[in-house]
Amino acid sequence: MGDSSDSVSLDIETIPFGGKEWLVETSKGCVSVFVCGDQEKPAIVTYPDVALNYMACFQGLFFCPDAASLLLHNFCIYHVDAPGHELGASAISSDTPLLSVDDLADQVDEVLNFFGLEKVLCLGVTAGAYILTLFATKYRERVLGLILVSPLCRAPSWTEWLYNKVLLNLLYFYGMCGVLKECLLQRYFSKVFYMLISSSNEVRRGLHGVESDIVQACRRLLAERQGSNVIRYLQAINQRRDLSECLKKLQCKTLIFVGESSPFHSEALHMNATMNRSNALVEVQGCGSLVTEEQPHAMLMPIEFFLMGCGFYRQPAASITGQTLKLINPASSSTPCIAPELLSPESLGLKLKPIKTRVADDEV
Ligand SMILES: *[C@@H]1O[C@H](CO)[C@@H](O)[C@H](O)[C@H]1NC(C)=O
Ligand SMILES: *[C@@H]1O[C@H](CO)[C@@H](O)[C@H](O)[C@H]1NC(C)=O
Repeated sequence: MGDSSDSVSLDIETIPFGGKEWLVETSKGCVSVFVCGDQEKPAIVTYPDVALNYMACFQGLFFCPDAASLLLHNFCIYHVDAPGHELGASAISSDTPLLSVDDLADQVDEVLNFFGLEKVLCLGVTAGAYILTLFATKYRERVLGLILVSPLCRAPSWTEWLYNKVLLNLLYFYGMCGVLKECLLQRYFSKVFYMLISSSNEVRRGLHGVESDIVQACRRLLAERQGSNVIRYLQAINQRRDLSECLKKLQCKTLIFVGESSPFHSEALHMNATMNRSNALVEVQGCGSLVTEEQPHAMLMPIEFFLMGCGFYRQPAASITGQTLKLINPASSSTPCIAPELLSPESLGLKLKPIKTRVADDEV
């Protein structure tokens, strides 16, 4: 099998507006935030699942051409990585106290303060979805909306707890060994998607090459992880508590995606059933937990409708451009994080002329 991994690797230079990594000093230690886009625009904060960084977790979605024009051009993305999960991170000193899920959520609050952000949209995957949901329950006034991908919201079941304990022990004694990598890949991807890698002679789907690249890239990333840092995040998430009661009081709009074959499928259903306001659930067929990588296209329409529900909408306009995307219902009209003008020329062709290349050469 040829190594065509370049087709999915993140090339920072090709991101519209570029991107910059910040190390934000919080009261709970340093956290890496990759900022992508124009900081005048409304903010989306992302948080990845256990052992992943923002690239492995979100690049599929953000590089999907239509999503790039919908999200990258209209928002500024703040990719928060869990402590010690950024590329090239060194092992966190063993003297450093372990952070709880509450500490991690508080850290997100401090990150917002650092960048002077009042209100944000949140996008998290599984453990990251839990952190951002917890953040939303603790800092309600700061969250405009939640987009959750195969989220967790209850305390771990006995089986999950025990399974995580096994993973923690493997990590502790053997580091990021082969077995552990396979376990994690099965946490993220559906069997079909994941198995494609071992059946490369048989092209079962048109996108076969791309798909196995994603799994391979993920496997390579996992090999580079600092096991002791992954232990910290996994341990925090294995000690999480049930958020069901707080969810009932959560006011912000919530869009939940869940892969049909995600191990956390029932968790997402429970979460959707528990929330009683302004939430929707999208089940993605034949997909694992990491919908952002496995089937990012399935997320586009729901996200577009969701953004409308949050006050970002496109309307026919008399202008020559034909369509505009405007904010009609900011929670506070003076909120600086909401740009009144959300339309860039590139996004006009959102549905009609999807941009086929990753290279966006606009300078506006
Ligand atoms: C949501 O649930 C809370 C608590 O159960 C209840 O007080 C509230 O009226 C519910 N809201 C809606 C819109 O159903
Ligand atoms: C998710 O929750 C919404 C709002 O409560 C409800 O209308 C919808 O039927 C739920 N979806 C599923 C699949 O349970």
